[in-house]
Amino acid sequence: MYDLLVLGGGPAGYLAAERAGHAGLSVVLVEKRAIGGVCLNEGCIPSKTLLNSAKIFDYAKHGEKYGVFTEGARIDQKAVVDRKNKVVRNLVAGIKGSLRTCHVTVKDGFGTILGRSGDAFRVQVGEEVLEAARLLVATGSEAVVPPIPGVKEGLAEGYVLTNREILDLLEIPASLVVVGGGVIGLEMASYFNSVGSKVTVVEMLDHIAGPTDLEISALLQKNYERKGVVFRLGAKVTSVSKGAVGFETAGQAETVAADAVLLSIGRRPVSTGFGLESLGVLTERGRIVTDARGRTSVPGVWATGDVNGQWMLAHAAYRESEVAVKDMLGQRDAVRYAAMPSVIYTNPEVGAVGETEETCRAKGLPFRKVVLPMNFSGRYMAENERGDGICKMLFDEAGARVIGCHILGGYASEIVMTAAMMIETEMRVKDIQELVFPHPSVVEVLREAVFQLD
Ligand code: NAI
Repeated sequence: MYDLLVLGGGPAGYLAAERAGHAGLSVVLVEKRAIGGVCLNEGCIPSKTLLNSAKIFDYAKHGEKYGVFTEGARIDQKAVVDRKNKVVRNLVAGIKGSLRTCHVTVKDGFGTILGRSGDAFRVQVGEEVLEAARLLVATGSEAVVPPIPGVKEGLAEGYVLTNREILDLLEIPASLVVVGGGVIGLEMASYFNSVGSKVTVVEMLDHIAGPTDLEISALLQKNYERKGVVFRLGAKVTSVSKGAVGFETAGQAETVAADAVLLSIGRRPVSTGFGLESLGVLTERGRIVTDARGRTSVPGVWATGDVNGQWMLAHAAYRESEVAVKDMLGQRDAVRYAAMPSVIYTNPEVGAVGETEETCRAKGLPFRKVVLPMNFSGRYMAENERGDGICKMLFDEAGARVIGCHILGGYASEIVMTAAMMIETEMRVKDIQELVFPHPSVVEVLREAVFQLD
């Protein structure tokens, strides 16, 4: 009997397996598809690899702004996808290596929970029945496929795509309609806009980028409109067919041409279809209910990552899994979500952490704010011709501590961590003012912002 069985080999599962194995537990990890899960194989990493190629291509096409002239720049989609596959292969190999180092047994196959017998949870993988004293459910999430006429047929025929298929497209579609202007939609709109598709984003809400600070989402939209992306907001998709997407906006029916359609209207936890019901674990609208230590309603069963429906981000999954493994080992810890950074890897990037003006108002939380153009940073100005990025910092009413930070601009993905540390450690503004930042750097904009508060 193993000490721990981990169901699912994505960021939540493989990290938990590594930590538990490292701590001396005997661990078996069951994965039905590919170690690394969605993040590594068809999400975070492949999309960032593609987006980097697009960024290089954009520089090549628009180098004249920086005094660099390149002629005949072109994108070779197959070479881009080949490189993406190589990056994924290398990273997956790295994870497999580290699982080996941590003495984790890996079983390839679909795991079905059979139930509990005495002290053991029983899980069937192929012909084999595995037994473990503890169970960690890390089965992740899947793309939501709406019951819109034509979607099912489109998926079968290949002109409707999810995050999985779009990353392997070898031909750049002349026109792409992105259904859902959230994180996946915007990152893929960014890529296909750069490489030459005519991109239309159809979004149900009146703004893009979901819970992002509204000033930043409006600026991001403007950036992409300048690049030629068309946004149809407040629009509900009504039909999909080969060549066209039908939608309704303000009571008007419209259609837009679409050689390919990306479905990016959200993801839902995978909590059914693998026998979880046999344990009586409490779920709520499809997500497994957990506490701050990853414990489910059933003793001996933990759930981390997208399946608990909390933040649906790989870095949230890492932290949740670390805490869950500590809990298994009798060590106290708890996940705090107040300083959870989030990033949209568009160009410019969006980095966000903590409260937004909108959440403060909704909670009745008084705040002070400083908004600075990113051009306060010399490095940003040197590298972004006509860049219109901003950095918005929110402080508590007394101006003593940072409670939120929202950035639009290059390196936002890296800068946001500095702000997250300020929030997580409840650093005092006066202590932040005494920090030395490297000059010239884009992160200096945070230093400027805390001095503007005086
Ligand atoms: P999302 O929740 O970010 O965005 C979905 C969007 O679709 C929303 O704006 C919603 O209003 C819209 N929508 C819903 N139904 C619609 C309809 N019928 N017609 C038009 N619009 C509709 O979901 P997304 O982009 O699919 O991403 C899924 C998950 O993947 C997210 O939870 C995210 O955390 C994760 N992810 C994170 C990334 C990152 O951290 N950079 C990158 C990509 C994905």
